[in-house]
Amino acid sequence: MEDKIKDLNNKLAEAHLGGGEKRIAKQHDKKKLTARERVQYLLDEGSFEEIGALVTHRTKEFGMDKQQFYGDGVVTGYGTIDGRLVYVFAQDFTVFGGSLSETHAEKICKVMDLAVKVGAPIIGLNDSGGARIQEGVRSLGGYADIFYRNVQASGVIPQLSAIMGPCAGGAVYSPAMTDFTLMVENSSYMFVTGPNVVKTVTNEEVTSEELGGASTHASKSGVAHKTSANDVVCLEDVKKLLSYLPQNNQEKPKAIPYKLNDEVREQLSNIVPDNANKPYDMHDVISGIIDDNSFYEIHQDHAENIIVGFARLGGKSIGIVANQPMFLAGVLDVNSSKKAARFVRFCDSFNIPLLVLEDVPGFLPGTDQEWNGIIVHGAKLLYAFSEATVPRVTVITRKAYGGAYDVMNSKHIGADMNFAWPSAEIAVMGAKGAAEIIFRRDIAASDDPEAKWKEKEAEYADRFANPYSATERGFIDEVILPKDTRRKLIKAFAMLEDKHVDKPKRKHGNIPL
Ligand code: HXC
Repeated sequence: MEDKIKDLNNKLAEAHLGGGEKRIAKQHDKKKLTARERVQYLLDEGSFEEIGALVTHRTKEFGMDKQQFYGDGVVTGYGTIDGRLVYVFAQDFTVFGGSLSETHAEKICKVMDLAVKVGAPIIGLNDSGGARIQEGVRSLGGYADIFYRNVQASGVIPQLSAIMGPCAGGAVYSPAMTDFTLMVENSSYMFVTGPNVVKTVTNEEVTSEELGGASTHASKSGVAHKTSANDVVCLEDVKKLLSYLPQNNQEKPKAIPYKLNDEVREQLSNIVPDNANKPYDMHDVISGIIDDNSFYEIHQDHAENIIVGFARLGGKSIGIVANQPMFLAGVLDVNSSKKAARFVRFCDSFNIPLLVLEDVPGFLPGTDQEWNGIIVHGAKLLYAFSEATVPRVTVITRKAYGGAYDVMNSKHIGADMNFAWPSAEIAVMGAKGAAEIIFRRDIAASDDPEAKWKEKEAEYADRFANPYSATERGFIDEVILPKDTRRKLIKAFAMLEDKHVDKPKRKHGNIPL
């Protein structure tokens, strides 16, 4: 028995070394942690239980039978984060560059299957040279097995991806189908084809970083939801994100105990400027409403005209969607519609109530927007809100114009409580433009067209540049003082806590993709 135990311990020690000390040193030289170090850092101390540490690949071609590493380039298992069960896989770049073989894929599929059966989040730490070149189609099959599982798990358990090294070729599609993708700055990249192929096909010269680095995907493409300065910060960001989410779609996120007290927030009274054309930072409204320092922003650098993120309100997790007057006056466009729609659908999948803070002048006009399909992308946001059955509350802080009024969680598309500040303007369009159109003849016939226009603008503003016309009809439930907003929202969400909506039977809707 003693020899057998020794033998096992030797094998496990070998497995723990991955591709060996030299390659581990190389990984550290690149300022990257190894797969095992990442798992240890991510999970509660001592909680990790490994599955499949002694798995080896089955390839004989190209001398592979003489190159065996226990674990086959991926560390898989389960553990806890803040005491909550999670499943994890971490690709080990020290073994064949973390490349994905048939057995490597089987290990990932095994933990994904367990995560779905048990109902706990799965976290993937990606660091891989892609398909194991020596295995050919067996590797491609392995990828597809994972993709299929990503889709089956979508909306059932939270799936989080951290990109902590290369992620190229078709491999990018697994993270893309998970709920959130976090990227480490300057050491990770994602692209379907690398700079060499790009040069051959399109003649463009581009570096890996420019083509698919963290900042590119966080700002330009929106593929990355968050970037982090290094591995450790990235793993902290994963843990924090997880704290807002439930274990699965049957549960609610864990609430932090909270006792209602004096919730008046005077600072909210002074944010919206008197001049309707002057911008202000919607982040100030958000931080004035939520529990202190609880905002976790998603897609911070992408489509900045809309803000989305998680926060706590009275200790409970909520998702916030807010127009940002600081960027493009908070207008809805292609990117902001897509960004917000995906976030709304995530929150709805996982029972996270939605708060909408609205100051929107409408949809962005122009050929660029029309030719890029603002109709279909704007419809995504409209669809996402309309199908959401979680508690939904809106506060209109200033403008709610045109179709964007309908889209931004209006009463008509199923919002539960709709509040407006006294500064709200709920109308088809701004008073100036409206007067020009409907009083065109009066203005033209006037001796002083400019003065007439001003007079008619004031007339229109008097009727519609306020929240009362909508309130009279019940489209707004209550006009509230900014300073009372936090208290009103805590009470509204508490009232909606047990909201339940049964939907008609159907396979799935046909969201305009
Ligand atoms: C097998 C691989 C590998 C791969 C790297 N290695 N990628 N082994 N299959 N795909 C091995 C290397 O041989 C090397 O082994 C070790 O990993 C580290 O690689 P290096 O090249 O030394 O590292 P580095 O200089 O950091 O470069 C990393 C890299 C490069 C940029 C990722 O390795 C690379 O370009 N790899 C090939 C990428 C690729 O074309 N993959 C296939 C993409 S197509 P030793 O023994 O020296 O340590 C694809 C399709 C997926 O993935 C489709 C899904 C549907």
